[in-house]
Amino acid sequence: MFGFFKKNKVLPTFAPLVTDMHCHLLPLVDDGSKSLEESLEVMETMKAVGFEQIRLTPHFCYPRFPNSEDDILERFKNFSFEVDNNRDNRNIPRLTSCTGEYQIDDGFQGHVDSGKLLTYHFADPKQGAEKGLLLVEFSLRQKRMGLDEAIFARTMEGYDVILAHPERYPYFDSRSSFLEQLKEQGVYFQVNILSLEGFYGPEAQKKAFDYIENDWVEFLGTDMHNLGYAMALKNASTNKKIIKLMESTEFLNSKLAVK
Ligand SMILES: [Fe+2]
Repeated sequence: MFGFFKKNKVLPTFAPLVTDMHCHLLPLVDDGSKSLEESLEVMETMKAVGFEQIRLTPHFCYPRFPNSEDDILERFKNFSFEVDNNRDNRNIPRLTSCTGEYQIDDGFQGHVDSGKLLTYHFADPKQGAEKGLLLVEFSLRQKRMGLDEAIFARTMEGYDVILAHPERYPYFDSRSSFLEQLKEQGVYFQVNILSLEGFYGPEAQKKAFDYIENDWVEFLGTDMHNLGYAMALKNASTNKKIIKLMESTEFLNSKLAVK
């Protein structure tokens, strides 16, 4: 009986972040949510752990998820309408906007060339690069050649770059000189909250804490995909080490603009 209650306990641990800036809740466009109802249920959990706002970041990943910016924005408009229709009877965060999680792969340059990259901005227009913040990820399997050049080129074009979940790439260790070099170039890092919980295994968990300790991490994200992730997020909200981290560390999530 006690175990049952403990398992379902949720705390608003992540309220200081205000905004979750990484999740896959636009239904049926990638490996995230499969329906409006699943997205709404996950969003209820996100509200319960403290998030007031959510930014969606569907995958742009070739050839697995060959999404286009125009199609994603159209789907986001329809999804926002459906979410708003449910707002009266569901306790859910505000859906603010849709950006993208761009994998640096064979399709990436095409998105760059289209001039339509979906980015974030800081609320303070004086903060950050002119074209905004671009969320990128690498392959989880093997390190591709030219990642640093691809990032450097974007910064030269007027973007800030956020690297998604550096702790999840098995080819980087806690003191990776490659990652250190990216930090020297001004690349922001975003760690997954579920990595801190151990959702992706002990190595990713250790690196997530190590990178934060190195002062390399400016953003936290949920990377929510489905109800299984939501269950792990509830667990993270009651994890003592994570609670302590949230009390002692400041992140930049709350500095992002709503649009
Ligand atoms: Fe993601």
